Amino acid sequence: MNYSEKVMDHFINPRNVGEIPDADGVGEVGNAKCGDIMKMYLKIEGENITDCKFKTFGCGAAVATSSMATEMIKGKSISDALQLTNKAVMEALDGLPPVKVHCSVLAEQAVKAALTDYYQKQGVDPEPIVGKVPEMEEE
Ligand code: FES
Repeated sequence: MNYSEKVMDHFINPRNVGEIPDADGVGEVGNAKCGDIMKMYLKIEGENITDCKFKTFGCGAAVATSSMATEMIKGKSISDALQLTNKAVMEALDGLPPVKVHCSVLAEQAVKAALTDYYQKQGVDPEPIVGKVPEMEEE
């Protein structure tokens, strides 16, 4: 399988790996078929995502897409983060092989799941803002 240099870079040297113990939003998503799991932690002040970390138990592309997704939303506003699509993450990584596209979907879902958790903790209904985040699938 051919990976771009950027994918390899973010896989071998992922950015923002870890946990945020006092995170304002935590999202966990998984893909039932491959069994990979991604967990995203957000620190939010006002409208801005001041910190973002992830833990991914999954394939190289899942690690690379979560690393890139954290870089793309860190320091940005919540509304910018909500615009993040798996397509944008893939483009930022100079593409992914077709069988690895679902790994980037996991990254988008993880960000949205973390923002959903953030709104729930604020007592705000997240669905009108974030939309529906698929539940973690189990098989
Ligand atoms: Fe499933 Fe990559 S193979 S997330």
